[in-house]
Amino acid sequence: MHIQKIPMILLFGLVSLSLVSTSVFAAGDYKAGKIKAYTCSGCHGIIGYNNAYPTYHVPRIGGQNREYLVFALQAFKSGERKHSNMSLQAEALSDQDIEDIAVYLADQNHDQNHDTGAE
Ligand code: HEC
Repeated sequence: MHIQKIPMILLFGLVSLSLVSTSVFAAGDYKAGKIKAYTCSGCHGIIGYNNAYPTYHVPRIGGQNREYLVFALQAFKSGERKHSNMSLQAEALSDQDIEDIAVYLADQNHDQNHDTGAE
C-alpha cells in the first residue's frame, strides 16, 4: 500500500506540469483542435476526405505537416494567401485556434491508411 502511493504522486506531478507548460507555451491542444476543426470537415471532409462541394478542388489537410498547416492558415488569415472560402475561415481563427487545429489535423493520417493511396 505504501508502494502504490508513489506512482499516484508522480502522476499528479506530471499532470500539473503538463497543464502549466500548455498555458505557458500556448502549444496546440489536440482535443480543442478536434472541436474547432469540426466546421472544416464540411469542405475538407477530413474523415474519408469526402468533399461536400465537389465542384471545386479542396486540398487534403488531414495528416499534413503541423508547421505547414499553421503556415497556410496564418497566410490566409493575414491575406498573404487569398481564397474566398479559406480567407473567411482563417480570419475567424485566433493564433491559439490555429495551433490547436494544426495539432489535431496533423495527427489525422494514422487511422486513414485506406484512403491515401500513397504512404
Ligand atoms: C467553404 C469551404 C471551406 C471550409 C469550411 C474550410 N476550407 Fe480550408 N480550403 C478550402 C479551399 C477551397 C482551399 C484551397 C484554397 C486554395 O486553393 O488556395 C482550402 C485550403 C486550405 C488549406 C491549405 C491547404 C494546402 O494544401 O495548402 C488549409 C490548411 C485549410 N484549408 C484549412 C482549413 C481549416 C483548418 C478549416 C476550418 C477552420 C477550413 N480549412 C475550412 C475550403 C474550405
